[in-house]
Amino acid sequence: MHQSKEIAVKNPNDFNGEVLQLDSETTTGGKKMFIESYGCQMNFSDSEIVASILSEAGYKTTSQLNDADLILVNTCSIREKAEQTVRNRLEAFQGVKKTNPNVKVGVLGCMAERLKSAFLEEEKIVDLVVGPDAYKDLPNLVAEVEAGRDAVNVILSKEETYGDVQPVRLQSNGVTAFVSITRGCDNMCTFCVVPFTRGRERSRDPKSILEEINNLAESGYKEVTLLGQNVDSYLWYGGGPKKDFTKASALQQKTAVHFHQLLDLVAQAHPGIRIRFSTSNPQDMTRDALHIMAKHPNICNYIHLPVQSGSNVVLKAMNRQHTREEYMELIDDIKRIVPGCGISQDMIAGFPNETEADHKDTLSLMEYVKYDFGFMFMYSERPGTPAAKKLEDNIPPEIKKRRLQEIVAIQQSHGRFNNERYVGKTVEVLIEKESKKSNAQWSGRAQQNTVVVFPKQHYVVGDFVNVKIESCTSATLLGNAIDFGPMQNYQHG
Ligand code: SAH
Ligand code: F3S
Repeated sequence: MHQSKEIAVKNPNDFNGEVLQLDSETTTGGKKMFIESYGCQMNFSDSEIVASILSEAGYKTTSQLNDADLILVNTCSIREKAEQTVRNRLEAFQGVKKTNPNVKVGVLGCMAERLKSAFLEEEKIVDLVVGPDAYKDLPNLVAEVEAGRDAVNVILSKEETYGDVQPVRLQSNGVTAFVSITRGCDNMCTFCVVPFTRGRERSRDPKSILEEINNLAESGYKEVTLLGQNVDSYLWYGGGPKKDFTKASALQQKTAVHFHQLLDLVAQAHPGIRIRFSTSNPQDMTRDALHIMAKHPNICNYIHLPVQSGSNVVLKAMNRQHTREEYMELIDDIKRIVPGCGISQDMIAGFPNETEADHKDTLSLMEYVKYDFGFMFMYSERPGTPAAKKLEDNIPPEIKKRRLQEIVAIQQSHGRFNNERYVGKTVEVLIEKESKKSNAQWSGRAQQNTVVVFPKQHYVVGDFVNVKIESCTSATLLGNAIDFGPMQNYQHG
């Protein structure tokens, strides 16, 4: 199909609200959609699937809100604040509707799933509500909306992985891309809304994953992040939810592909491409996966390993399936098997009944691990979750805030401590974009995921370069690129 594509996506959380555009193809008319994504990387990746499905239905994308016939917001429910941000955006769209009464507004993703048709009544300007497993129905739903009827599909699936949809890359730098490998989550952490909004965990056919990565490689991409809510739990046995694996045939069980095997396959198939994965859950991260990381220099030495709390009492109340001691053992093994591995965390301050002693346990665990960086939050009660049903949100906001500040302060000092250890050393950097602070500098990431900024010289976006680190802040390494000769002499680390 020949159509114009002016593609843009905003993702305020992960991409600082930048709007980038891809090349346009020639126009043959058709309607225009504007997509905005909030929340996790998975949502961003889903927007690329949505753009693909709707482009098949004749929709081109636009970066201009006022130009759009259809405004789509891919939403996040993880914390109250995330939902509030979306509600504010929906209010702003009301202004657009005033100038263009024909424009339709659709809510996608987790908020759509959580609020379902209530959304249509609550938010008068919403015309379309589509949950994360119903995107293939978008062409039908959009046709309904075009005909003047509201449309809702929030049916969750046990099978849907969108493995057969070739995503339209949005906001692409042409260098790094996300590839979804699992959907949903079976973990039921008591604070978390994801199992309710994204349904049961299921894995995607490894063949379609490899095909997507082949296509990315052919288009010149240099880094792929395998995505899932619980990526280490990946398990392909011919389709279906993970929890039905025990009912699979003996042959299916024998030929199943586990996460470390997928990682091995992908790394082997593309030695020139960096492989990352996110998010790892401590109880599902295997030593096998660590050994595969150590085996392949192109699998980045970096693990995002949320722990949420350092207290065994809180971990239990959160229904996390591991203890503080087991987590520390895993950290020891990571440091032993994958030396120099970057490690980051997610933490929640002020979970119900969290005592000062529990909080101190969190701080001491952080001291033990010395994370490179982290994502830290105050507990936000989510309606319908086990914690909301059974536990009172009883930590006063000012205590939550103080505990969060203490967690953030420790993290900053550890970030600086870790970064200082790079000064004087050389790291491999993949150049992603121009530095925000200076158009004479490139910005990229080391394997450990730390941002590295350095003078451009003759290098271009997509180059792997060795950068000698001269100085640092708590979040960024600063240095100069040095020529080392052929790639195989580069030290990964
Ligand atoms: N496994 C998922 C986790 C998604 S939620 C992943 O792929 O990242 C991301 C983080 O948000 C969680 O690790 C947790 O730290 C935080 N979070 C989730 N629910 C929360 C809540 N109710 N209140 C505060 N923070 C929460
Ligand atoms: Fe949420 Fe726990 Fe899954 S944080 S996404 S239920 S691993």
